[in-house]
Amino acid sequence: MSGIGGLSVHPITAGTSAELRAGTSPSSAGEFIDRVHTTLGQLLGPGEGICLDVCCGTGAHAAPAAALGWTPVGVDLSRGQLRHAGHQLPVVVGDATALPLADASVPAAMCVLASTDVPDYAAVLREVARVLTVPKD
Ligand SMILES: C[S@@+](CC[C@H](N)C(=O)[O-])C[C@H]1O[C@@H](n2cnc3c(N)ncnc32)[C@H](O)[C@@H]1O
Repeated sequence: MSGIGGLSVHPITAGTSAELRAGTSPSSAGEFIDRVHTTLGQLLGPGEGICLDVCCGTGAHAAPAAALGWTPVGVDLSRGQLRHAGHQLPVVVGDATALPLADASVPAAMCVLASTDVPDYAAVLREVARVLTVPKD
């Protein structure tokens, strides 16, 4: 885990080099995505309200977020990806480095398997920090 701008950043890794050596790394796409969703569930936890799916792609993680009680809403640059995602969750075309949302407007966000797709990922994290509501103790 690392932190940027007060956010906790948890890299989701579904197979490590040690697992590869031990022969316990995911052996299929289905197993890989199951492990991603297990990790997502552990990191996100149950909750209510909107969970912004940043760089949502085809919306492959909408179902596990919804199963935790969240209402996933996707944002992605690609209209082609969003044509598929629109069958899974409400979506909006947008740049994750300039999210089309007001400050402190959503209670949760996730960004799965996209950190290597955005050249300035720190800008994405700053935007996520901006739009998240501050938890009240
Ligand atoms: C590898 S895909 C991952 C999609 C999805 N999160 C998943 O795990 O299936 C990366 C996604 O990031 C999107 N993307 C890349 N740069 C972006 C940006 N600046 N703003 C929004 N989406 C972006 C791409 O269009 C693509 O759908």
